[in-house]
Amino acid sequence: MKFHYAKRLDTFQAGIFSILNEKKEELIKQGRTVYNLSVGTPDFKPAPHVMEAFQKACADPENYKYSLTDMPELLDAVAGHYQRRYGVHVESDEIMSINGSQEGIAHIALALCDTDDVVLVPNPGYPIFSVGPFLCGAQIETYDLKKENHFLPDFNSIPENIARKAKFIIVSYPLNPVCVTADDKMYEELIAFAKKYEIIVLHDNAYSDIIYGGRKGGSFLAHEGAFDVGVEFYSLSKSYNLTGARISFVVGNSEVIKKFQTIRSQIDYGVFKPVQYGAIAALNGPQDMVLDQCAEYERRNKALCGGLRNIGWNVPDSEGTMFVWAPIPENYTSSEKFCMELVEKTGVLCTPGSSFGSLGEGYVRFALVRDVQAIEEMVCVIDESGILKK
Ligand SMILES: Cc1ncc(COP(=O)(O)O)c(C=O)c1O
Repeated sequence: MKFHYAKRLDTFQAGIFSILNEKKEELIKQGRTVYNLSVGTPDFKPAPHVMEAFQKACADPENYKYSLTDMPELLDAVAGHYQRRYGVHVESDEIMSINGSQEGIAHIALALCDTDDVVLVPNPGYPIFSVGPFLCGAQIETYDLKKENHFLPDFNSIPENIARKAKFIIVSYPLNPVCVTADDKMYEELIAFAKKYEIIVLHDNAYSDIIYGGRKGGSFLAHEGAFDVGVEFYSLSKSYNLTGARISFVVGNSEVIKKFQTIRSQIDYGVFKPVQYGAIAALNGPQDMVLDQCAEYERRNKALCGGLRNIGWNVPDSEGTMFVWAPIPENYTSSEKFCMELVEKTGVLCTPGSSFGSLGEGYVRFALVRDVQAIEEMVCVIDESGILKK
């Protein structure tokens, strides 16, 4: 029998990622050293008190039932954390857990847009931003993030007819992959833009705990009017090294959250209770590991960007996120081609900027998932390969 699949699947071809992965496997088989900086999976451990909370909850058979809802203690933990960490007061009907921001950002589109509705996403941007709107059959319009504008949106450049039709806009700072932070002005303009055109704002806040230069990351919700226009996705994945636990939150406008809950109640039975207990421990417990690990990311950022600059590759320091956004060397025009050559010659694996949108072309993204020593070694390998002197 011949199976016939949905045409939408054609959009999700693995492409360059499977080619790079094959290359990586091939090099490993040859006994070559591979520096895999392509995927943003932290190499740090969760805090012991968080793992203990998981373990304890896993020992209780009651916790294996459908959870259905967020435990009141979990909602309190999120509210307490938002108050302490961001100075933002949140009520319990303004919070909902999701199985990771990735899942939440994709599924919220089902509650917010219909076929042919316009949705605004950044270019370059994190790929999941387009997936939900795409699955809804929405019209995806990108807004440009250009280096000359510090990779911040220029809301005036969004055509009026597009803005009028837009149902929601996704914004995220510090932004993966471009690694910049946004100032208060950007958020003020965003909220004014959203109010003017009645557009819901989704702010993806995955990296507020990984910001360099002594600055402290914040929340979109701390800005005046934010609750009137949208919600924030707050992920525990990177702050607490819980990527596999799949726990994040949508926080903000209660009406948007209620609508999203309506969709979720059709497709999901709630977050596994031990994961909820782990999240409570992470949010209520000591935060020193979060700070220590940010300091370590900063050392890696300096080692990589500073090291590459020393060997003639002009890579700016990241302002935040666990990534580095590097313009490809002048002799190259294709980020995919450069990634292939880099891995072949050096064993260093990074992600082509083109996979983040057309304006990502000309860049590659490194994830800071190896320690300083490995990064320094990697910089030497790149230097010795001669790839920069081509
Ligand atoms: C910008 C951004 N948003 C969301 C996510 C997904 O986070 P989660 O693990 O909560 O799904 C990531 C993960 O890399 C990310 O980089």
